Amino acid sequence: MIRTVQTTPFDDQKPGTSGLRKKVPVFQQPNYVENFIQSVFDSLDGYRGKTLAIGGDGRFLNREVIGIAIRMAAANGFGKVIVGKGGILSTPAASNIIRKYGCFGGIILSASHNPGGPHEDFGIKYNIGNGGPAPEKITDAIFARSKAIREYRIADIGPLDLDRIGTTRAGDMAVEVIDPVTDYAALMETLFDFEAIRAMFKGGFRMAFDAMHAVTGPYAKEILENRLGAPAGTARNFVPREDFGGHHPDPNLVHARELYDEMMAPGAPDFGAASDGDGDRNLIIGRGIFVTPSDSLAVLAANAHLAPGYRAELKGIARSMPTSAAADRVAAKLKIGMYETPTGWKFFGNLLDAGMATICGEESAGTGSDHVREKDGLWAVLLWLNILAVRKESAKDIVTKHWAEFGQNYYSRHDYEAVETDKANALIDELRGRFATLPGQKIGALTVAAADEFAYHDPVDGSVSKNQGTRVLFEGGSRVVFRLSGTGTSGATLRVYIEKYEPDPAQHGRDPQAALAELIAAADAIAGIRRHTGRDAPTVIT
Ligand code: G1P
Ligand code: ZN
Repeated sequence: MIRTVQTTPFDDQKPGTSGLRKKVPVFQQPNYVENFIQSVFDSLDGYRGKTLAIGGDGRFLNREVIGIAIRMAAANGFGKVIVGKGGILSTPAASNIIRKYGCFGGIILSASHNPGGPHEDFGIKYNIGNGGPAPEKITDAIFARSKAIREYRIADIGPLDLDRIGTTRAGDMAVEVIDPVTDYAALMETLFDFEAIRAMFKGGFRMAFDAMHAVTGPYAKEILENRLGAPAGTARNFVPREDFGGHHPDPNLVHARELYDEMMAPGAPDFGAASDGDGDRNLIIGRGIFVTPSDSLAVLAANAHLAPGYRAELKGIARSMPTSAAADRVAAKLKIGMYETPTGWKFFGNLLDAGMATICGEESAGTGSDHVREKDGLWAVLLWLNILAVRKESAKDIVTKHWAEFGQNYYSRHDYEAVETDKANALIDELRGRFATLPGQKIGALTVAAADEFAYHDPVDGSVSKNQGTRVLFEGGSRVVFRLSGTGTSGATLRVYIEKYEPDPAQHGRDPQAALAELIAAADAIAGIRRHTGRDAPTVIT
């Protein structure tokens, strides 16, 4: 029985960097979820009879929203939904399912690395048939529709059993519940030298993987321990919880502090890694060295040929604008294309589809390749393991040698979270107003070479995305980028990205905050961070 329900629009359903993200109580308002999902369906064409993939990171509200999505898919004429057992699919696994089974698209429920629970964050994202996040023209259409929507359709069907693998029916629609890990693990086996990694573990290699009570737990258990023979206990905090055990499932040096401390202490395992709430981010820490995501992208690109899935020359490398230029030097050496996109994985999709890029990455702990259309936490960890197994060197040696060959891009991001929106906007507006006068100005020993707002001209579809971050470039190649987050759920988050290139090996491996001190001071002098925000220190430094 299909019901058409009258509703009134909400005015705040604008998808951000990665889908619609709000606090749980916002999603719990009557019709809020239904309005958004109907707005998604109303913005799509030609899905009748086709298959929709549905899954989420298991956070609070996951099951309820999965139930609503399935009932609405049935009412709107989808032929089938594929859903992960228990409503679980990591974001990269969902991308794989969409591609592997030729789905029309997918609905992914996640707020990524943000905390979960009744008062924390939730999110809904739509991915298109290539497995990647919907591009801006679709997210804009969804937002426009959400402001005008008057009714939604939902099917009254009995209780759904999402815990039993197999196919059942929901009205005219088939509901196939699948194991969330199987297809993903099979894909990883095609890309990496599992035998070499297995031999490395057999030889006593020790690793710590922190799943942060989030979705990657079952994936890590199966792949690292069951298939690669890592000792039991390699995967930690591997049982996904609705509230991630009360922590932020954010694999950075603040929220994965314990792992970091362990990796820096005597007797540390050979390799440490972590992943986020929905499994698309990664943290890489070798014994005695934290590898910045920007460096990790560069090292992975330079060594990818050591893995069976990447033996052929890479087609190109892409990075988001705020990500350091370390990978650019690798692309130059390999004589392959290098693309600089706005922040957010949705901008990589066209380059990957067009065969212009093979590996993509962001400074925010997101790396991936053309195997899916999302960043992929475990993929990055497995590529690292493959490289370590073949080179038989430590992560620290590999990174140090990389710097010696290419130079080191010192890099840090300073986040000022929950700043009043007006104040954050005023800071950016003031900065924009100074683009014309900044060049030539001296701040300490630094001279501003240029200041502008990043705009992206997509080389594949010709679309233009403006206002993608404010850049201040200094003579000598250092830079500071200012951007407001598009994923936050309270106030504004100001991100300040700081980068300095250091070619001299004698100057490598220093504490980045010290190496970047002059630029950090310049960032405040130029943008008036203290003056505008009233803060005298960032909330998080990565
Ligand atoms: C953040 C990251 C960005 C990433 C996104 C989704 O977005 O900065 O690189 O793609 O999360 O994981 P932001 O909050 O900066 O808009
Ligand atoms: Zn994520």
